[in-house]
Amino acid sequence: MEWYWISSERLRLLLGNSLLCLWRKRGRLGGMKKALEEPTLVPASPDPEDKEETEWYNQWPEHPPELREVCEEYAREVEKLALKLMGLIALSLGLPENRFSSYFKDQTTSVRLNHYPACPSPQLALGVGRHKDGGALTVLAQDDVGGLEVRRKTDGAWIRVKPTPNAYIINVGDIIQVWTNEKYQSVEHRVMVNSEKERFSIPYFLNPSHYTIIKPLEELIHEQNLAKYRPYSWGKFMTNRKLSNFKKLNVENIQIHHFRSPDMGEVDPAFIQDPDHWPKFFIIEGEGIPLIDLSPIISPDSITDPKAIEGVVREIGSACKGWGFFQVINHGVQLDKLRNIEAAARKFFALPLEEKRKIRRDEKSVLGYFDCERTKNVRDWKEVFDLTVEEPTLVPASPDPEDKEETEWHNRWPEYPPEFREACEEYAQEIEKLAMRLMGLIALSLGLPENRFSRYFKDQTTSITLNYYPPCPSPQLALGVGPHKDGGALTVLAQDEVGGLEVKRKTDGEWIRVKPTPNAYVINVGDGLQVWSNDIYHSVEHRAMVNSEKERFSIAYSLKPSHYTLIKPLEELISEENPAKYRPYNWGKFLTHRKLTNFKKLNVENIQIHHFRL
Ligand SMILES: [Fe+2]
Ligand SMILES: [Fe+2]
Repeated sequence: MEWYWISSERLRLLLGNSLLCLWRKRGRLGGMKKALEEPTLVPASPDPEDKEETEWYNQWPEHPPELREVCEEYAREVEKLALKLMGLIALSLGLPENRFSSYFKDQTTSVRLNHYPACPSPQLALGVGRHKDGGALTVLAQDDVGGLEVRRKTDGAWIRVKPTPNAYIINVGDIIQVWTNEKYQSVEHRVMVNSEKERFSIPYFLNPSHYTIIKPLEELIHEQNLAKYRPYSWGKFMTNRKLSNFKKLNVENIQIHHFRSPDMGEVDPAFIQDPDHWPKFFIIEGEGIPLIDLSPIISPDSITDPKAIEGVVREIGSACKGWGFFQVINHGVQLDKLRNIEAAARKFFALPLEEKRKIRRDEKSVLGYFDCERTKNVRDWKEVFDLTVEEPTLVPASPDPEDKEETEWHNRWPEYPPEFREACEEYAQEIEKLAMRLMGLIALSLGLPENRFSRYFKDQTTSITLNYYPPCPSPQLALGVGPHKDGGALTVLAQDEVGGLEVKRKTDGEWIRVKPTPNAYVINVGDGLQVWSNDIYHSVEHRAMVNSEKERFSIAYSLKPSHYTLIKPLEELISEENPAKYRPYNWGKFLTHRKLTNFKKLNVENIQIHHFRL
């Protein structure tokens, strides 16, 4: 199909016949596009953060010379009909006739001229594939050839819309579906082609202003009929769609069901993220996240080439600086230890909830099973099991700086599976070697002795979290883990093949998916390392997405110093020209403060290292 597209307010078209004749005279019009309010104001990008606006201008061909005028006159004419219909629709809902009018000031309405040439294989191609119209209302003029088919709501059959002389075909768009809270529905339709005749049609797409926030109308919702959609910006929706027309991404277009509130019993509202944190509709997979081969330093005969080690150190330094994240392969971890803990975790999370809740953590015992984890006070779509590697782990009794009392954290083990404890303990020992090795390489990359950080990890508060992300019916609304930075020194993460971890790229703030790499570990710089390095390295925001089909498991080893460690920029890395960027803070108090906010649903921000920024 070819089409020519115009957008409306000052541009309006005159009716079909003259236009169709003129097309026939001129032959095909090339694939030109037009926006119709002249200019039409739209957001500069689909990015919700980006508040910039831009203007769309129509492009007019030189031939036929009357095209612009007939289009503009036609638009003006059809607008009257479209707005009249909106008034009647409002009345049909028991609303005032002008209920919708305010949304169409600064409208983003457009007109499209479609030409469907005769097709040699009409069984194989479609003029327009099945879709729903994203806007408010469509007013379509079709010629006598026909080809439009509508999916009947009752049985899903495709019904041909018979061309009726001088009739317009009207259909409800997605916006009316949302405004009416699904009282009226936007229905799928498609266009067939035929082998003999070319076909013309002219849809007029009535669309609101880009700054309209689309949501169910207040008058139509009440306690028995709650809003089925979260509000969304029409301009962002529209520009997102436009963009996916050009980038032929293998991902689904933006759809209103992305904003659909979960049905009762589907997703608890406590899981629903602020719209700013909703997943983007394009997934960018991160080839950019460095993959580092550790084989030069893991050589079994320990005759290692200093040059090769230097290379690894350099790679690690630049990964910590550029990304705060990297993956390692050939890391020397015995993979049977990983397989054992994975298998034990799967068995444990498969237990009935009552069984798991026997070791549910609470304010008194902060370790064990938990299913109400929160990040920034929104619930995470996951279950976790936490354990510490030192038994017991010494910590302050409270976050209160005055309180000098200490307490002990003890692990709590489930009865089933019986091998669970051993699998966890053996895994912890195995990963500790890798984590400490990495801290040594990071020290070297900062020009420090390899053992520079070792002292902080005597009496460590290191923990392991087993994460289980069940499939989520509304993966667009919830996150497995909301955006956060890791508070400790270094995280060593094993993720399965499902994937879902996303990292905020430092250069442009884009969320980048970390592609699962078999037998690799994902390493990231924690806040502690950011402070020690005085911001040479950064702890980077990350989050975990869920999906509607597959469960996902991951195992995070969080290397953390002893509770009595005073974290501050290392003396060797500060100077008069480069003074300390943080004041010292006590790690144990920081840690216990964070733990506490998991229980008390405080409406305040978690403790963060920027609170100590100078
Ligand atoms: Fe359509
Ligand atoms: Fe994390």
